[in-house]
Amino acid sequence: MPDSTLIELRRATLAAFASADTMQQLEDARVTALGRKGTLAQISKDFGKLSPEQRASVGKLLNSVKQDLESAYEEKKKHFEEAELARRLAGEWIDVTLPSPGLRPGSLHPITLIQNEIEDLFTSLGFAILYGPEVETEEHNFDALNIPAMHPARDMQDTFWLSNGHLLRTHTSPVQVRGMRELGPPLRMIAPGRVFRNEEVDASHEHTFYQVEGMMVDRDVSVANLIYFMKTLLSGVFHREVTVRLRPGYFPFVEPGFELDIRCLICDGSGCAVCKHSGWVELLPCGLVHPNVLRLSGIDPEEWGGFAFGLGLTRLAMMRYGIDDIRQLQGGDLRFLSQF
Ligand code: DAH
Repeated sequence: MPDSTLIELRRATLAAFASADTMQQLEDARVTALGRKGTLAQISKDFGKLSPEQRASVGKLLNSVKQDLESAYEEKKKHFEEAELARRLAGEWIDVTLPSPGLRPGSLHPITLIQNEIEDLFTSLGFAILYGPEVETEEHNFDALNIPAMHPARDMQDTFWLSNGHLLRTHTSPVQVRGMRELGPPLRMIAPGRVFRNEEVDASHEHTFYQVEGMMVDRDVSVANLIYFMKTLLSGVFHREVTVRLRPGYFPFVEPGFELDIRCLICDGSGCAVCKHSGWVELLPCGLVHPNVLRLSGIDPEEWGGFAFGLGLTRLAMMRYGIDDIRQLQGGDLRFLSQF
């Protein structure tokens, strides 16, 4: 075998290595020359056919060609690896001297926003703000509000009973009882808070929602006082004058009891989808405090009278901000909450 074959192999392979533009091309050139079935392996196979003198000189050349090719291959491979690393580092580069984006400020929950407004408004009208417990006694939640056991009105509120006979309050009305008993008349109070009912959850029902209870007990309190405070409240919440009307409504703790409607703020009474084309939107139940309720909390109904109302805070927040699914309010989704 002439030395020139080896020398030509070296020349051609080094050229192939040098012109390889990718790792794959380099690898292909290596396999052709140095692979198990490559040219050099073929030449080695014929090595046995040579005479001892030829073997010595060809063997030497063969080893040196092999070494030259291996080191050229390693060098080019290293070059590719370094280029790849440099490319990655350039892509992942960050400027650690840039100012940080900062903490994202939180915001108040829409229900908290409305609650704060209502608290401010009633504070300015001389009302105390009371927070009753969420776990209530049956007596505060029902009996003292003129809803004795077996009264059908208990069925209107699907109650979570606890094994000790207490319950999760179904409304904020039991705070009326606490206000009357602890502060006595004359009394002006509101009680915002969380209430619980065993409701099937959907877009407009939640097992946990918010109300604001209101109560005023004084001498000579009439429906006129009730209407005045309700108009003041609602004008404050909606930031404009509202027109209200009362329809009869039944609640065991008030007599007479009313459903208060407001003239639709969307269509101004001419009829639209929001008011179901009636021009009016049902907003809150209210009434004059039933004499039994006063009596059950130690207040003489001959001397004192009062009004009470129960505002659905959750519903009000949904109307005010145009939220169409109640589940958003407690879903904890920051994309929703950060809009407020
Ligand atoms: N507590 C009642 C409920 O959740 C709402 C209510 C009605 C409250 C009339 C009142 C009232 O204070 O006078 O269904």
